[in-house]
Amino acid sequence: MEELEDLLVRYRPKFLYTNPTFQNPTGRTLAIVARRELLDLAARYRLPIVEDDPYSELGWQRPPPPALFDLDDHHLVIRIGTFSKTLAGGLRLGWLAASDSIVDQLALIKQRTDVCRARC
Ligand SMILES: Cc1ncc(COP(=O)(O)O)c(C=O)c1O
Repeated sequence: MEELEDLLVRYRPKFLYTNPTFQNPTGRTLAIVARRELLDLAARYRLPIVEDDPYSELGWQRPPPPALFDLDDHHLVIRIGTFSKTLAGGLRLGWLAASDSIVDQLALIKQRTDVCRARC
């Protein structure tokens, strides 16, 4: 986390992308302590996090820690998932969970891109 904080200070990124649960390709999962530290850091720097989460429903030994999205008290996490790992590989259907204001913005962007209402 110290190294990450140094990078945040140096580069001031617009957002952080992470695949914290059963990461592809390593299969590693971020422990809950590290999840909380990451969220504290994000809150301190007002850093949005994109949580790419296609695999959390595939664990069979024990459930993974809660999603960053579920631990986030600051509405900074955008969680994205897919049905292609659980329903059918060819489905090409995904989903997104975020605060209302972020979903509204993204729905507007999508609407401008493909002339289709995206919010449900
Ligand atoms: C980390 C990660 N994110 C997202 C995806 C996208 O999944 P899909 O395009 O099958 O919905 C994959 C697929 O392999 C992945 O490994």
